[in-house]
Amino acid sequence: MKRYNENSFKNSMKLRYDFNNLMDTSIDAKLQDSQFADKVGAISKADIEAMMDKYTLARESLDKKLGKAEYMLAWTELAYNQDEIVADILDYAKKVQDKFDNFVVLGIGGSALGPIALQQALNHMHYNDLPKDARKAPKFFVEDNVDPERMMALLDVIEVKKTCFNVVSKSGSTSETMSQYLIASKLLQEALGDKWAENVIATTDHKKGNLIKIAQKENIKTFYIPDGVGGRFSEICPVGLLPAAVCGIDIEELLAGVAYMDELSKEKNIYKNLSHMAGLLMYIAMEQKDKNIQVVMPYADSLKYMADWHAQLWAESLGKKLSLDGKTVHVGQTPVKAVGVTDQHSQVQLYAEGPFDKVITFIGVDNYRNEYRIPEGCEDIPDVSFLGGHTLNELIQSEYDATEYALTTAGKLNQRITLPEVNAFTIGQLIYFFMIQTAVAGELLNIDAFNQPGVEAGKNATYALLGKKGYEDTKAKLDARPNKNSDYIL
Ligand code: PA5
Repeated sequence: MKRYNENSFKNSMKLRYDFNNLMDTSIDAKLQDSQFADKVGAISKADIEAMMDKYTLARESLDKKLGKAEYMLAWTELAYNQDEIVADILDYAKKVQDKFDNFVVLGIGGSALGPIALQQALNHMHYNDLPKDARKAPKFFVEDNVDPERMMALLDVIEVKKTCFNVVSKSGSTSETMSQYLIASKLLQEALGDKWAENVIATTDHKKGNLIKIAQKENIKTFYIPDGVGGRFSEICPVGLLPAAVCGIDIEELLAGVAYMDELSKEKNIYKNLSHMAGLLMYIAMEQKDKNIQVVMPYADSLKYMADWHAQLWAESLGKKLSLDGKTVHVGQTPVKAVGVTDQHSQVQLYAEGPFDKVITFIGVDNYRNEYRIPEGCEDIPDVSFLGGHTLNELIQSEYDATEYALTTAGKLNQRITLPEVNAFTIGQLIYFFMIQTAVAGELLNIDAFNQPGVEAGKNATYALLGKKGYEDTKAKLDARPNKNSDYIL
């Protein structure tokens, strides 16, 4: 039996959400100078209770939409309906592992950030530098920019013939990804002739967009992004599962973690439902307590790109101008990425002493996968020698506790998410926890958390600037922009 089917494993690996330090029982506004006490904005039990009617309505509304593609909530079924797809992915991943030295994801936004986050969390931190027999899988690259220097740098370190390019685009029309596809396919044609398409995998919509048309024409192996699963919610479908499987990550355990969090998220009592409570509390923080910023600060290098992935999820889903009933609302909460302890020596000064405008979300780990003991030494210098005999594990945990304490006494709202250990099961839970939290917050904000009109406007302007057919009106508007005032360019 796989360990993720055992209740004892599941219970011991349950993600925990501790919101004590959002609450007025921990955060004492009276400790701050009196003129700032009302800015602290700690949440009270009464604040939560006052939201119960609104939450109940939002919950009923969300529950009716769960699993439904027309509401872009088909991702809530992905833990349960992908058996055949997972089998196909595992089978194909094996072929890729046997045949290729490099696996390059060409994608951006939701098509890139998840694969990067999973790789950092679950594989060796210097994965590409390991010898091939230790990796047992190709080197892994995600090209999520169109910086020409970066493209050249990639081509300097891979042999195209021995590289599998996974082109990932839900819309199949994203300029960045499709320009990368054009570059990769040309290079492959030059290197391999007729067989070039064997080095390409497309992950895209099964009928919409250009990528599927190209894949069908060129006979490219294709995995599908299901209907009702948007870019930033696609990490647990082939977008994230294929690269993870190619790099040896246990995607079945990951999906078991997703299913476990889904089960926990179905709990009706919000005081026992961590993802819903997290959504409600961030709604209260941003809408009632003026916390316009959320800093996500994992105390684990393995989780630092989870903060990047979360930043897109939270920003692109909740940053909206219009409510569902057409009112101009301009809502959202700015995500900021940090990593402990590194950013204690850069950003934490601001968080401790700056404005009361943010919530700090720590992500901690009970048990790191390694332990490293600091050797004794420098006995004549007590300020150094006290470190000897402790472990790096103790040091990072102590600094984590100390930072949490310092922020709490400084009146700065903070919360903890804890993973008993970083593994595929806990990462599956974490991803899904954030996805549900986002859906709950979106419902409470009464906005469409699943579109991105602000991003589309930029995409359309790019098409116009590059002379794409059909965008002539946008081009005319861009051409009519007022000239920049040279007085303001120094
Ligand atoms: O979350 C989203 O929808 C976006 O960030 C997309 O993932 C991103 O714009 C890339 O789009 P596509 O997958 O269509 O190429």
